[in-house]
Amino acid sequence: ARIRRYKWEVKNEFKFPDCYKKLMITINGRSPGPTILAQQGDTIIVDVKNSLHTENIAIHWHGIRQIGTPWYDGTEGVTQCPILPGETFTYKFVVDKPGTFLYHGHYGMQRTDGLYGSIRVSVPDGVIEPFSYDYDRSIILNDWYHKSTSELATGLSSNPFVWVGEPQSLLIQGRGSFYCSTLNSPNLDVGLCNTSKPECSPYVLTVVPGKVYRLRISSLTMLSAINFEIEGHNMTIVEADGHYVEPFVVKNLNIYSGETYSVLVKADQDPSRNYWATTNVVSRIPGTPTGLAIFNYYPNHPSRSPPTTPTTGPVWNDSDYRMAQSFAIKAHQDYIIPPPVRSDRVIILLNTQNEINGYRYWAVNNVSFTLPETPYLIALKENLGHVFDQKPPPENYDMVNYNIFMKPNNSNATTSNSIYRLQFNSTVDIILQNANSMKVNDSETHPWHLHGHNFWVLGYGKGKFNPVTDTNKFNLVDPIMKNTVPVHPYGWTALRFRADNPGVWSFHCHIEAHMHMGMRVVFEEGVEKVGKLPSSIMGCGKTKGYYRP
Ligand code: C2O
Ligand code: CU
Repeated sequence: ARIRRYKWEVKNEFKFPDCYKKLMITINGRSPGPTILAQQGDTIIVDVKNSLHTENIAIHWHGIRQIGTPWYDGTEGVTQCPILPGETFTYKFVVDKPGTFLYHGHYGMQRTDGLYGSIRVSVPDGVIEPFSYDYDRSIILNDWYHKSTSELATGLSSNPFVWVGEPQSLLIQGRGSFYCSTLNSPNLDVGLCNTSKPECSPYVLTVVPGKVYRLRISSLTMLSAINFEIEGHNMTIVEADGHYVEPFVVKNLNIYSGETYSVLVKADQDPSRNYWATTNVVSRIPGTPTGLAIFNYYPNHPSRSPPTTPTTGPVWNDSDYRMAQSFAIKAHQDYIIPPPVRSDRVIILLNTQNEINGYRYWAVNNVSFTLPETPYLIALKENLGHVFDQKPPPENYDMVNYNIFMKPNNSNATTSNSIYRLQFNSTVDIILQNANSMKVNDSETHPWHLHGHNFWVLGYGKGKFNPVTDTNKFNLVDPIMKNTVPVHPYGWTALRFRADNPGVWSFHCHIEAHMHMGMRVVFEEGVEKVGKLPSSIMGCGKTKGYYRP
């Protein structure tokens, strides 16, 4: 195993990723930032210098379990104090599993300003994967807002509430195309929107006819569920969140924020032309134009537009179609890790929107999450007293009387920073129950992401989860393991994990706006087994004055 060292500078810069000027957060001048390339077992060291003028940062290594290093998970308020402007913070962790992972800002909603990138961990020399390909490419899908994230975040926590709205464009590997001409004339200012900026041109994926490409497709959208398609080409799904999938072929891929997939694509179509690769919004009424990239057959000119109209994706509200893809994802038969046959604890989490004193929140079992001033990991490990609400959050909701098809009544919603304490090494089932939002006849898709673990996906269903009949239908034979999973509209998703990683871990909706509005819970397990905390994570809340480098 090797050591891979990176030096990053995080800065504010004006960029035109979709032709429209945006105050972004870049790493070494780029967004997406540098791809981390490593082999299983390698140690990654990243020196992160915060050169933002006024904002704190923290970087989360999405999908990396941080076994033995829970303090480098990068979750501000949970595992560390933020990195202040002018400071350099060093993350150091082992990538213990091969697969496709991500990194991104985990302070406020900074990910949405462009602070993100890919991690690609390959298998050790001599190890063979259950599929083969000629080339390997990482592609991050995103949606894009022209307003700064501070403005968006401020709107979400204002009374009256200001919703972020639908994104202005969709980015493929950091590039999009906003039609400047759609702006009202006072805004037709080339300083603001300029289609001739070099960075503002579609991402080009050049392929050699006959070759097979492993495309590592991931999504870090702020809000949107995405359908990805390469015109005229099928895709074979072979990996999800670092786990091999029993291969299956799709025409297009539904992908939710925080998920990663590897798909195999063979360049087997008419090589005399180029093809569109498209992203389209699903699960919300689309208010964003199709995202475009060019699937370029060598030696055609990379910027030659395909002769066809870009694909527009499946019907946005066909949740059966998307649920069917979720159902089809099973562990590769040679790589099945059987789940424990029973669990020690079942936590049922009802996802609803709520209003408290005129402010709008997302809540779980009617509790909307807030961060404490002292990160949990430090507070618990160093016995800093009751820095957060000690009353445990609810294990359940009123399953008999609650109608998931009705708007919630907001009689008893609260905010809290309390957490779930899990028995170390116990097996925990989480049932995520979706419901109606504050709009009649509306239920959204929520991709939930768990830090520090992979979980087995035991089932999905429509309507209200039934603890007897639905539990009996759990897939204990070949469930896929993931770290992010969608909860479909008016549906439920069941997952199981072993609480075997000492630390404090976030579990939240990966939609940045939803997490900001409180759609998160936190789990603690085995914190007494955590090793000595590095002093670099301290300095805020009750750890003010603790040594900082
Ligand atoms: Cu990629 Cu806590 O998230
Ligand atoms: Cu959500």
